[in-house]
Amino acid sequence: MTASTDNQILVDAPMELVWEHTNDVAGWPDLFTEYAAVEIIDRDGPSVTFRLTTHPDEQGDVWSWVSRRTPDPETRTVRAHRVETGPFAFMNICWEYRRQEAGVLMRWTQEFAMKPDSPISEDAMRDRINRGTVEQMAHIKSVLEERARKASGGEGSGGYGPGGLHAQRLLYLTCGMRLAAVVGTLAELGVADLAATAPRSVTELAAATGTVPDALYRLLRCAASVGILEEQPDGRFASTPLGDGLRADDPYSLLPLVEHSARSFVTKPFGALAHSVRTGEPATVPTLGTDIWRYFEDNPEDGARFDRTMTTLGRWETERHLDVVGPERFGRIADLGGGQGHFLAAALRRAPDATGVLFERPCAVKAAGEVLEAQGVAERVTRIAGDFFTDPLPDDCDAYVLKAVLHNWPDEPAAELLTAVRGAIGDRREARLFVVEHVVAEGNGWDHAKFLDLDMLVLFGGRERGPREWRRLLARCGFALVDRPREGHWTVLECRPVEAA
Ligand SMILES: C[S@@+](CC[C@H](N)C(=O)[O-])C[C@H]1O[C@@H](n2cnc3c(N)ncnc32)[C@H](O)[C@@H]1O
Repeated sequence: MTASTDNQILVDAPMELVWEHTNDVAGWPDLFTEYAAVEIIDRDGPSVTFRLTTHPDEQGDVWSWVSRRTPDPETRTVRAHRVETGPFAFMNICWEYRRQEAGVLMRWTQEFAMKPDSPISEDAMRDRINRGTVEQMAHIKSVLEERARKASGGEGSGGYGPGGLHAQRLLYLTCGMRLAAVVGTLAELGVADLAATAPRSVTELAAATGTVPDALYRLLRCAASVGILEEQPDGRFASTPLGDGLRADDPYSLLPLVEHSARSFVTKPFGALAHSVRTGEPATVPTLGTDIWRYFEDNPEDGARFDRTMTTLGRWETERHLDVVGPERFGRIADLGGGQGHFLAAALRRAPDATGVLFERPCAVKAAGEVLEAQGVAERVTRIAGDFFTDPLPDDCDAYVLKAVLHNWPDEPAAELLTAVRGAIGDRREARLFVVEHVVAEGNGWDHAKFLDLDMLVLFGGRERGPREWRRLLARCGFALVDRPREGHWTVLECRPVEAA
């Protein structure tokens, strides 16, 4: 027999905070009253396998078991199950988070069955879980609401006076440039990799990184103050879940983005953000002497680095994006501004009968040869070195991809490019355009795209767009969205050809 429980609670706190804190498994002993310890056993992409150990119960018994959970920030759901099932035949858990007017509605559903020889019946276990969940949810709610109050510098903050929370928070924010330098230097020195397996002393780290111990200590202490490392009582430094995000061996490492952000072709234009805000123009001409594409051609090392960064970041979500595209549906797929061809190659590997066109700037299309060869699809791909604003686009494809391309351009050139794609499609109503972009979330919440948008402004003169802006731009160029765009994430916008509005 299968039994289930279903409980929910409204937490008056921002979604990001609720999501982050409840998914920080290592921090659960501070969030739940029932857990004494958590041991992280394995991290595999977004999934984490961990052992939980409880405080002694009323009978003085301590319980311990291994679970595995996989959060999906896109759908704001978490799926988990017990790996060591103990008295359960199985135990599956689902957490869902829904934004509401008054906060976040957090819902936990559990589905389970007891082993035939278990001394506890399903009904008794359901009652026990329901009692425990109600208690834990109430506790978690009060902890999270308190954390949210502190984070927003609310009640009792002491305002802007010395030590006041507003002042501390503002200081933290104005340290942003220094913080980026701290993270960039940790990445450059490879500290996260060195501290990955075991805590390291400053002397060890200084010897391994060729740095001065005292100066290195000051850097590490600063990093520890924002949670990237942890200084232990014996003075050694250990990595943390945040620090792990800088490890080179993690496929989801943020290292490429951190390194990219530290390059002078990013930092110099960002130093002139005010110029862009005053003029609406990118800050590349005044700081680099030319527009960014010309700069990459004149500085091929930086150009190649940019292409590699885009490729690495783009590959994180390739399979999920391809699930939406469904390349098997198409006979010939064009990737316009397709970089080094990774996305097209992955699409063609899923669609063994399809052929493809990679349309790119000459320097990028040249580098793509190796990738397409390595992926075993080179003979199915026509490579076109050209300018998608001035050269004719292939008109024999039934799927067109523009991935992370349109955000590089303001509305007029973006519309020009979309109109050219629409022209290439003509009256083939079954053809599709796939725009892969980060759809900016509406409202005041955190969304990385709101910062990427400033990258687009200062570096490219482009922009990130919200759902309404996408709809308007596409309609103007003769495309309609097949589905409602999902905000706050990299999303595949499937577009079908219609009459231009
Ligand atoms: C941000 S990158 C995205 C690359 C790739 N689609 C991805 O998702 O990794 C934008 C791409 O547009 C290409 N591009 C820019 N201007 C172009 C033009 N006028 N004609 C063809 N490609 C262009 C760049 O070379 C670059 O590879």
